Amino acid sequence: MRQLVAETQLSPRDLILPMFFADGIEQPKEISSMPGVYQHTEESLVQAVREAYEAGVRCVDLFGVPREEDKDAQGSPAWDPEGVLNRALRLLRKEFGNDILLMADTCLDEFTDHGHCGVLDEQGRVDNDATLELYVAMAIAQARAGAHIVSPSGMMDGQIGVIREGLDAAGFEDVAIMAYSAKYASAFFGPFREAVGSSLEGDRRTYQQDPANYRESMLEVDMDIEEGADFVMVKPALPYLDVLAGVAERSPVPVAAYQVSGEYAMIKAAGANGWIDEKAVMMESLISIKRAGADQIFTYFATEAARMLAKDA
Ligand code: PBG
Repeated sequence: MRQLVAETQLSPRDLILPMFFADGIEQPKEISSMPGVYQHTEESLVQAVREAYEAGVRCVDLFGVPREEDKDAQGSPAWDPEGVLNRALRLLRKEFGNDILLMADTCLDEFTDHGHCGVLDEQGRVDNDATLELYVAMAIAQARAGAHIVSPSGMMDGQIGVIREGLDAAGFEDVAIMAYSAKYASAFFGPFREAVGSSLEGDRRTYQQDPANYRESMLEVDMDIEEGADFVMVKPALPYLDVLAGVAERSPVPVAAYQVSGEYAMIKAAGANGWIDEKAVMMESLISIKRAGADQIFTYFATEAARMLAKDA
């Protein structure tokens, strides 16, 4: 009876698995603050994507982890066809074709030696407009390497419009844009910084949203849609369900939410201590994110949750 009247359904098809591919490692390397999540080698990446696919997941989101010595002030491995992320895209596109959607993180922070999402001016401030052209070059390189979806996550003003124009001009009209529209300057991203070996000192408060603000996020969403976003996203998820519900209410395009590294780490840590029932909390958090209005959910639990959903069905 409960299933018959359930107002919200979660499906493996709703889930997007974020993954890390690293240069210069011989073995997959577990991220200590994210048990069960790895920096992958080529072999383990293909294997993990296959497992996700077999569980019913149909989209993965790729992050590249370059060697420290390959980083520079501009983040040039980002648009280098031989850069770590672009190689991962080519590898997976060759292996899986169109069976699984490949999304790429379109942001410079993994590739810059200062760890910011954009380039810096002489005063060391992030230069919004100088960053935009680098995002365009990065998005085109990712499309060329096989990305079905690019996902600008750097929160620069105007990034969606210029990337759309750049992709279209390069013949990639059918590559979609997942816009990180309401992305908060969040302490919940902590474990991610370890995951990508971030060089960041300081914070991202000049370009990411203030956790105190709701209305400002609605403006960000409206602008991204106006500029051509195919999806808009709210991030983190659980602490921002009100924002997610507000975006879902007004958006004419699909709305995604990102259950981020810190949300994952908290559930894993409490679960490992026996303080909560990890699997139950995992499923409850995902159904809550869906209920609040997410059409797609980025989660490091994607494969595991998809397997549990398949068992229940
Ligand atoms: C930036 C980016 C970040 C995350 C995804 N893309 C980090 C940041 O903005 O500091 C965080 C993801 C997570 O915490 O799981 N490229």
